[in-house]
Amino acid sequence: MCCAPSNTWKQALRTSKAKRVRNILGRSSASVLAAGNVNGKAELKILGIVTETHDAGLALLEDGVPVLVLEEERFNRQKHTQEFPRLSLEAAFAQMRLGIRDIDVITTPWDMRALRRTSANAVLGSLPWSLSLLWPGAHAAQDSGIVLLPFWLKFNLRCMFGRAALPKLVQVGHHDAHAAIFFASPFYEAAVLVMDGYGDQSATSAYIGAGNRLECRWRGGFFDSLGMLYTLVTQHLGFQTFQEGTVMALAACGGDTYVTKFKELVSLDDGGQFRLNRDYLRHDRCGQLWPFTRKFVDTFGPPRGHDEPITDRHRDLAFALQVCTEETVLHVVRALSEVHPSRNLCLTGGVALNCVANARILRDSDYERVWVPPCASDCGAPLGSALWHYHQTLGYGRSFELTHPYYGVEYSDAEIVDSLEAAGLLYQRLEEPALMSQIARELARGRIVGWFQGRFEMGPRALGNRSILADPRDPQIKDRLTCIKRREPFRPFAPAVLVEHAAEFFEIEQPDPYMTMAPRVRPEKVQIIPAAVHVDGTARIQTIDRLANPRYYGLIEEFGRLTGVPIILNTSFNQQEPIVMTPADAVACYLNSGMDALAIGNFLSKKTGT
Ligand SMILES: [Fe+2]
Repeated sequence: MCCAPSNTWKQALRTSKAKRVRNILGRSSASVLAAGNVNGKAELKILGIVTETHDAGLALLEDGVPVLVLEEERFNRQKHTQEFPRLSLEAAFAQMRLGIRDIDVITTPWDMRALRRTSANAVLGSLPWSLSLLWPGAHAAQDSGIVLLPFWLKFNLRCMFGRAALPKLVQVGHHDAHAAIFFASPFYEAAVLVMDGYGDQSATSAYIGAGNRLECRWRGGFFDSLGMLYTLVTQHLGFQTFQEGTVMALAACGGDTYVTKFKELVSLDDGGQFRLNRDYLRHDRCGQLWPFTRKFVDTFGPPRGHDEPITDRHRDLAFALQVCTEETVLHVVRALSEVHPSRNLCLTGGVALNCVANARILRDSDYERVWVPPCASDCGAPLGSALWHYHQTLGYGRSFELTHPYYGVEYSDAEIVDSLEAAGLLYQRLEEPALMSQIARELARGRIVGWFQGRFEMGPRALGNRSILADPRDPQIKDRLTCIKRREPFRPFAPAVLVEHAAEFFEIEQPDPYMTMAPRVRPEKVQIIPAAVHVDGTARIQTIDRLANPRYYGLIEEFGRLTGVPIILNTSFNQQEPIVMTPADAVACYLNSGMDALAIGNFLSKKTGT
């Protein structure tokens, strides 16, 4: 991996940062720029970092403005890695020409006191069974070392930087870190709902956000976790942790056989609270080792083996889980809107990746605008911890709005050429108009194109810089994409649509730049973009704004000029591995798959005969 510093990139970054700060000053507090001279330095640098838990990674904040957000999985090529993000840190420091002495504060998105208290209560809660929670497999997504997170952080930093003085380490509550993405949202005031598997003291937290302040209004129980319920049923259905999105897609293929019975698993209480029914679940005693009771198995059937065929029973159970999830989230959201009747809702935490539930909230709640960040899951927690410290703890005003997800590393033309030539590929270099025109024509001819541009995205979605692209008008192309991606045939592919045309094709009235909603496709448009429509008539859209990604916008605009359809089918550039990061990753994936062409920077390579 090479991440040689790029001066032009750094300059562009600083210019755009200054521009963003000026823009914000026009509409909010003028106290913002006081941040510039803390500790006598030009910029206050906060490094958010996490390890010993899934989605290990980091974020670098300069005067409240993110400059890099990196997940270690992109570097070490292990999905949801728990490893210390050493490679990310090396890349970040090389890219920004920084050393550990330049960092003012390190933040981490877990509060050890709260986590240890919660863990002790859990382990002592239902003795002797609850002792099994100490077994590593009882919480697959977390390393047991998380209860020693500060120790492991300092240990690894010492290994990297030797005797250099380390910056102060600040622990931020896990849900506080999730909620702090509000400070980068388009809303000056909003209700903020965090729902995930679990944090350091609960699995659901509701906040009210205004300006540079967040106030927690209530928290749900630690084991009353909608995210954990989704994960446990995902495992019961024969999929792995983190394949919840696959189950969400499967749900659309199911029927309502189990809906009434499944609703017994979740009791909806006053004030937006809810509880999981321990007659069916014993995850509070056995974690993920043995999470369901005999009653659950008798009611919904035995677990599906990984290699067993998927039957109607599995589809119907997924359907019931999804319905129950949507109704529970709506129950919480409606209660929140009564307490805090805002127009705006900020949703975050892993449950906010459920784009079907998000679309339902937008449709069926009183909130008029729902915003979900591109890093809603724990991959956004390091950034959130840094934002929390900057705004909530230090009291600085708002200085930034997240308008795009491209906070990864970028690569030079020389690095791209090296990768193409090392693989023996023929290629041509094209200026942007010719590149757009050629790729749009290739797509319109039914070709599948690997698309690698600029800095990679934060979060789990490919949002236009590391994507595989295709024509949504072709009903057959889904099968080819499924084959390239080596994934389940029932999973849909997402349409990227020019933001000005979104409401024309989809039942949605707000932008969704991070692919976080699955609105219905307008009935009269279904036949126009059949490859983008899921079996339930929805599509997980991404709206593309010209300012956020001019090149991607230009490509879709060109495709629209050619075909009359300003939409391109987009899926992540990978095959059962983390999304490609480097040009070499992209070339390898291209060569090992059925893609027809590769557009990488300004270079275009086509396979022989296409
Ligand atoms: Fe989380």
